[in-house]
Amino acid sequence: MFESKSGVFFIAGLFFFAFAFLSNAVVPALMYQHLPEQTAAELVNPNLRYQFEDLAQRFPEQFEKHIGTPPEDLQAADGWYNEKCAEMLKLGRDIYVGEGCWHCHSQFVRPVSNESLRFGPVSQSEEYQNELQRPVMFGTRRVGPDLSREAGRRSSDWHAVHFFKPTDLSVGSPMPPYPWFFEGSAEKPNRRGLALITYIQWLGSWLDSYPYYEDYDQSPVAKIEAAAAKAAAKAKELEDSPEAETATEAE
Ligand code: HEC
Repeated sequence: MFESKSGVFFIAGLFFFAFAFLSNAVVPALMYQHLPEQTAAELVNPNLRYQFEDLAQRFPEQFEKHIGTPPEDLQAADGWYNEKCAEMLKLGRDIYVGEGCWHCHSQFVRPVSNESLRFGPVSQSEEYQNELQRPVMFGTRRVGPDLSREAGRRSSDWHAVHFFKPTDLSVGSPMPPYPWFFEGSAEKPNRRGLALITYIQWLGSWLDSYPYYEDYDQSPVAKIEAAAAKAAAKAKELEDSPEAETATEAE
């Protein structure tokens, strides 16, 4: 067997398979086996709470109808928000799985190809040690961007409009519209819509580098206006420059 080329490749193949299994499955499992798995209730953090209460303010009627009204007493309201938030997180995760969002979106920033410049900090194993990552939502491919640092990057009403009809915000987007998360319009997310937005606003909310979209991203309209102003200034500059005149004369 060892005399033939294919025999050598066969043994090498077995060896590499065993090595990959050891380094990618057995070693990480042993490294993190002592970490307790976090429950959804433990995953509610101040950034996520901010977004969840923000949902209550942006969509007051829908929030009240599908999630409820917080108790008057402030301390009781605090517990109530935490509890509802955890409930919505779990439901949102189930919808993310059920709708197959993971066919097009990954949740894993790899330590290669400068991915951290595009998406944010590289993913760490312990980030996956929780109830919402059973099974892990690594995804299978990236038709759309990685979502593991999506929290805070966009406002919740941006997500509502985007889920209702992605092409309204992103020209030519291949992402399908999800009208069944709404009661007829983007201003009226139903229980599933609110849950999915909560889940999306959770992704990465545990990191120190949490971006509040207000400081982070210009609105698409502001971007278009800024680009148009720049183009107009450039056109004027060209018009006024002597080269432009010679160019016109030459015509
Ligand atoms: C057919 C592939 C596809 C599917 C299925 C899909 N998406 Fe997308 N998604 C995209 C693409 C492409 C983009 C980038 C263009 C855009 O913004 O629409 C995107 C963008 C996004 C963004 C905005 C990211 C950002 O900040 O720019 C979010 C959030 C998102 N998708 C969430 C979801 C969720 C949740 C689901 C499941 C309900 C889903 N997507 C299903 C392809 C997909």
